[in-house]
Amino acid sequence: AKVHHHTWDIAYHYKSLDCVEKLAVTINGESPGPTIHATQGDTIVVTVHNKLETENTGIHWHGIRQIGSPWADGTVGVTQCPILPGDTFTYRFVVDRPGTYFYHAHYGMQRVAGLDGMLVVSAPDGVAEPFTYDEERTILLMDWWHKSVYEQAVGLASDPLKFVGEPQSLLINGRGVFEPFHCSRAPNGSSDAACNVPAPQDARRRRSSRPCREDVPPPRWQPDVAVGAQLRDRGPPMTVVEVDGHYVRPVVVDSLYIYSGESYSVLVKADQNPSWNYWAASHVVARERNTTSAMAILSYAGNDPRAPPPTPRPEGPAWDDVTARVEQSRSLAVAHPDHVLPVPPRPDRALLLLNTQNRIGGHTKWAINGVSLAFPATPYLVSMKRGLQGAYDARPPPETYDFRSYDIERPPPANGTVASAVYRLALGSVVDLVLQNTVALNKKSETHPWHLHGHDFWVLAYGDGKFDPERDTARFNLRDPVMKNTVALHPKGWTAVRFVADNPGVWLFHCHIEAHVYMGMAVVFEEGVDKVGRLPKSIMGCGRSRTLP
Ligand code: C2O
Ligand code: CU
Repeated sequence: AKVHHHTWDIAYHYKSLDCVEKLAVTINGESPGPTIHATQGDTIVVTVHNKLETENTGIHWHGIRQIGSPWADGTVGVTQCPILPGDTFTYRFVVDRPGTYFYHAHYGMQRVAGLDGMLVVSAPDGVAEPFTYDEERTILLMDWWHKSVYEQAVGLASDPLKFVGEPQSLLINGRGVFEPFHCSRAPNGSSDAACNVPAPQDARRRRSSRPCREDVPPPRWQPDVAVGAQLRDRGPPMTVVEVDGHYVRPVVVDSLYIYSGESYSVLVKADQNPSWNYWAASHVVARERNTTSAMAILSYAGNDPRAPPPTPRPEGPAWDDVTARVEQSRSLAVAHPDHVLPVPPRPDRALLLLNTQNRIGGHTKWAINGVSLAFPATPYLVSMKRGLQGAYDARPPPETYDFRSYDIERPPPANGTVASAVYRLALGSVVDLVLQNTVALNKKSETHPWHLHGHDFWVLAYGDGKFDPERDTARFNLRDPVMKNTVALHPKGWTAVRFVADNPGVWLFHCHIEAHVYMGMAVVFEEGVDKVGRLPKSIMGCGRSRTLP
């Protein structure tokens, strides 16, 4: 096994990722950051210099379980103190499983300021994957806002709430073209003065007047917020073969629904007319489409890679087709159920987690069973391992909600609380989590992609309406469920997952939409913290960990 050393300067730079100049948080001057390539069993060492001048940072390795290294998870407030401006911090961890992963800032809302990139772990030489391919490409999908994340965060914490709204652009490998949405829908040649970009249908004009545009070739996908990626318009369909680091039974799709925090590997066969170019597009789904879709070009060798495809730009699937999205979620199953860890037949503990939007103390928050998470000044890992009393709310959060009488069609009747409470799990126990969706204060029900740090879980079921433990537990798929680390909670539905709490440490479980976790849509799990090895001093220095020996 190899050791890969990387040295990163994290700094703000002016970037024009979507042709509009804006400050972006960069790694060695780039956003997105470099793709890390490694082989299963390798060690990654990343030395991070925080050169943001006035902002803290911390970097999370999304999908890497950090077995034996919980302090390298990069979750500020949970596993470490923030890395202060001017400071250096070293992450060191083993990548123990092949798959497509990524990394991103885990401090405030910094991820959407551009601090992210991909982490691709290959199977060792001689270990065959259940599929073959000639070439591998990585694709990172992102949302891009023009307001600074600081302004976005302050808006979310303000009374009244100023929501971040829809992103201005979608990016494919860090490139996009900002076009006001109404302009992109205007008929060709429209003379709307507000649209000082060329009509998008005129790809030729657009190309010549938009030198910042880059053409990005496909096959591996990675997103932010809910994005539907489409790589076809009389082009090749995609076969999904890997999800969040697990091989799945191959599924052929025209469009792939991806939620923030998920990763997919798809196979594309280059067997189309080679003299054409093809569109690869990503569109907003699950929220009303107010952002122009991102377009890239898939080009055969020998073609002009910038020549516009002869076909119209793909429209993508309807943004509000919940049924199609739930169906895709349900279509995923593990590739070889007999070759993987069997699902434990029953849980030792089941948490029923109601997701609500609440008004708390004049602020709009997201809460789970009435509790909106606020990170304590001292990271949980330090305060729990070192037994610091009073560093977080010791009273445990509720295990369930009143599911018999609760009406998920209405915003919550009661106000919640803000707390830093923790679910303490018995080490090695089997835990079921059932996420229950409702309508928010605006009476709409959104999609929330939930991500678990430190573990993968089996996805046992997606249901519509309200989860009924007696009726629905019997419908759990214990035969061939896919394992994931991020799962969609669909509008007015529920999602059930199971995991084994066998990784000593303290782990965040949260909605991966940056604005939602910032508004408290998260819970914390602790298991076997006494079994965690000696904590590195480098994760300390804030709150009550300042004075620790
Ligand atoms: Cu990718 Cu806690 O997140
Ligand atoms: Cu959410």
